[in-house]
Amino acid sequence: MRIDILTLLPELLDGPFSASILKRAQDKGLVEIKMHNIRDYSTDKHKNVDDYQYGGGAGMVMSIEPIVALIEKLQKERTYDELIYMTPDGKVLEQNVCNELSLKKNLIILCGHYKGIDERIREHLITKEISIGSYVLSGGELAAAVLTDALVRLIPGVLNNETSALTDSFQDNLLSPPVYTRPPEFRGWKVPEVLLSGNFPEIEKWREKKAFERTVQRRPDLLDE
Ligand code: ADE
Repeated sequence: MRIDILTLLPELLDGPFSASILKRAQDKGLVEIKMHNIRDYSTDKHKNVDDYQYGGGAGMVMSIEPIVALIEKLQKERTYDELIYMTPDGKVLEQNVCNELSLKKNLIILCGHYKGIDERIREHLITKEISIGSYVLSGGELAAAVLTDALVRLIPGVLNNETSALTDSFQDNLLSPPVYTRPPEFRGWKVPEVLLSGNFPEIEKWREKKAFERTVQRRPDLLDE
């Protein structure tokens, strides 16, 4: 997979992509993540990338020209499956969308700033608008990092244990059951007996029951789906 991230602050994304699973996925050649600075595509003599909004009002709007120039340059090089815009008024990200996107070949992720981007980009070029939650970040970069992490770990071959993504919370609309490791007792706090029993059918039954109970208590909305 290839992911092209369009941003005004590429340095904000150096950290998240240079450690752990995202780094390993790139080292293994399973994903190529490229950052592009929108400012490099400004033809304005001051390298401006934003302007006042028509109709007046506080806050600047990201201009159409540099963003379209960058998108069209990339589209000449390859075909993109989705052109995603990170925005608080997009559809809230869920695991099923991550599953779907993890199977794509080429993605563009556009990060917004200020009051947002000129609406004509959304109308004519964007194919998906994603929010990572009902709150407003200073820009789309951290949201793009969240989306990239959530989908790259699902690309076949990225996780060491192929089955571990299948048992994540939200796969099958259930939260994960509780987990424990050694020691079996700490300050009198005990690991549930069944997990130490070696009886794997019983352990599996216990995990299913706990996953269901946890979902009923914490996220009953998942069961309605
Ligand atoms: N940009 C600013 N806030 C955002 C959010 N909650 N999700 C996605 N992009 C954003």
